[in-house]
Amino acid sequence: MPQNEPTTATTGERTGGTGPGDAPAGLENLLHETRAFPPSSGFAAHANAQPGLYDQAREDRLGFWAQQATDLVSWRTPFTEVLDWSQAPVARWFGDGRLNAAYNAVDRHVEAGHGDRVAIHFEGEPGDTRTVTYAELQREVSRAANALSALGVETGDRVVVYLPMIVEAVVAMLACARIGAPHSVVFGGFSADALRSRIADAGAKLVITADGGYRRGAASALKPAVDAAIAPKEGAKPTTVEHVLVVRRTGQDVAWTDHTDVWWHEAVEAADVQHTPVWVDAEHPLFILYTSGTTGKPKGILHTTGGYLTQAAYTHRNVFDLKPEDDVYWCTADIGWVTGHTYVTYGPLVNGATQVIYEGTPDTPHQGRWWEIVEKYGVSILYTAPTAIRACMKWGSEIPDRFDLSSLRVLGSVGEPINPEAWMWYRRVIGGDTAPIVDTWWQTETGAIMISPLPGVTAAKPGSAQVPLPGIVADVVDDDAHPVPDGGGGYLVLSEPWPSMLRGIWGDLERFKDTYWSRFPGIYFAGDGAKKDDDGDIWLLGRVDDVMNISGHRLSTTEIESALVSNELVAEAAVVGAADDMTGQAVVAFVILRGEHASEAETDEGSAAIEKTLRDHVAQQIGPIAKPKKILVVPELPKTRSGKIMRRLLRDVAENRAVGDATTLADSSVMDLIQTGLAKPSSSED
Ligand code: PRX
Repeated sequence: MPQNEPTTATTGERTGGTGPGDAPAGLENLLHETRAFPPSSGFAAHANAQPGLYDQAREDRLGFWAQQATDLVSWRTPFTEVLDWSQAPVARWFGDGRLNAAYNAVDRHVEAGHGDRVAIHFEGEPGDTRTVTYAELQREVSRAANALSALGVETGDRVVVYLPMIVEAVVAMLACARIGAPHSVVFGGFSADALRSRIADAGAKLVITADGGYRRGAASALKPAVDAAIAPKEGAKPTTVEHVLVVRRTGQDVAWTDHTDVWWHEAVEAADVQHTPVWVDAEHPLFILYTSGTTGKPKGILHTTGGYLTQAAYTHRNVFDLKPEDDVYWCTADIGWVTGHTYVTYGPLVNGATQVIYEGTPDTPHQGRWWEIVEKYGVSILYTAPTAIRACMKWGSEIPDRFDLSSLRVLGSVGEPINPEAWMWYRRVIGGDTAPIVDTWWQTETGAIMISPLPGVTAAKPGSAQVPLPGIVADVVDDDAHPVPDGGGGYLVLSEPWPSMLRGIWGDLERFKDTYWSRFPGIYFAGDGAKKDDDGDIWLLGRVDDVMNISGHRLSTTEIESALVSNELVAEAAVVGAADDMTGQAVVAFVILRGEHASEAETDEGSAAIEKTLRDHVAQQIGPIAKPKKILVVPELPKTRSGKIMRRLLRDVAENRAVGDATTLADSSVMDLIQTGLAKPSSSED
């Protein structure tokens, strides 16, 4: 059989219904997938990860992880203890070891004679470029670390990073790690209000930002949001921020506060290039990253050093088959998300990889920009999200076809389930029908990839993340925590601790226990529904809680509802994630207007104005990514007798389906009212 012909495999059917194992709408009609793509014999023979890795991990899981930690990470003081689970669910991995994350990511490669290897090929959106070797990165990170210390940042202090995708973003994270100051990166698309609450929750002493960044062909400002986020505000505690370090990227004019603001280039250029890393305990906090949960308040997910680095390096090496001397790796994620932490900053650099960092959007100045970058740098490993693949698919194969993509040998996907059509397109058009695709399932909380094919071992199935990596124990269980049989559906759980697991929610141990460990006592519940097919392979079906996944980004329905009701127009709001061909899910909001405003929605113009006001309001409260795609003004919301909004019914409306079983509603006529009111066409975002 030719190596690229799929073999046949049987898989479970994804069906609709109600319950945890149900496919969310939009995934329901997926094909009965019977294709499987084994790696070519050439790829398999030279792959980093061989089939024996599974057996090795199964026979002695902790010994396996100890081996990875020893082989892939450099320790100042070697650990003797692997896992201490006595304080479960707070794990200690490699607890008596000491190390430094920035030393691992940079210095040790220079010491090993690889100082001239390119660490980062930077491509700015306007076309400016910069090449940074490991030796240069060492100097820049050391200087930045000295500059942070000069600004009074000490080991344990928190630093918020609010930067575009530029080299300084990686340098800033590593400089923090070098002095043992946990960073908390906030995505540049979040608003001043969102930034304020994250700064306050983390108690940050310093913010590192830029005048702006380039996005969609124009310079967009960043510093004004920081200024607003730390300005005194009535009813809010005074900010803990003492200084703002500002990278000059765009040259825009910025407001300047002398005793607070410091230019990065001045502080860093004035600093010494020598810096001794601060050796920290394996369990020293490395970073806090805020992510949406089911309540309105984002959770500060805490990751520590030794276990996190171990799994970041292990997964990056094995899932992407990284050969640091030969490969050019590119992960398109922004450092504002966990993918940018683990697969831009830490995994690749700890492994000594050469990587591309691109500042802008895939279609600026033209829809072939990504493929131009792949060709220019000879990218061999590409890691991106299904939403981007779908966008490229829509723009047409003739665009990537114009570029030489033959350097690509491994393709990764992350952030949401990848539909088989997009998977096949990715493989055929981008991967030349040969590059293995790894569909990687993980979360901010898991810190690193958990479920994924191994590119040289697994016969990949379009649309399935398939198998837990060696060393990871995951399962799909029913309501009583019993594993479902092959072919069954339920909740995805992680049954054993793993090195890069979150160590808590910043400042809220109870919420940590409640959120992840109470649904199935002693077992981590991820919040995702999943199915096992007849081969026992795992298919992710989306969230079973009130978390939405928009273009691979997590947003909470409650957080957007809170933003909406904080506007004077709104009395009540309910938000659902409705299936969307391009973004996976889209935010659809149902709002009841306050009495005095109710009549304003009666004309088309009036309702369009209300929608605009509310969309802008959400953008200001959270950020443009949270803007509802549609806002529907309704007279009532469907609620159970206990007052819980039945989002399932609203989702039916948002997705133009017949409304499902409404018998548990307190008032069963509500759905009729809503549908009659919505009979006129609603406007949607342009
Ligand atoms: O629902 C799952 C989905 O993204 C959620 C985690 O989101 P976040 O913490 O923002 O991290 C995204 C990047 C790791 C998960 O609970 N998800 C992530 N990867 C996949 C996925 N769903 C299906 N398949 C994936 N490969």
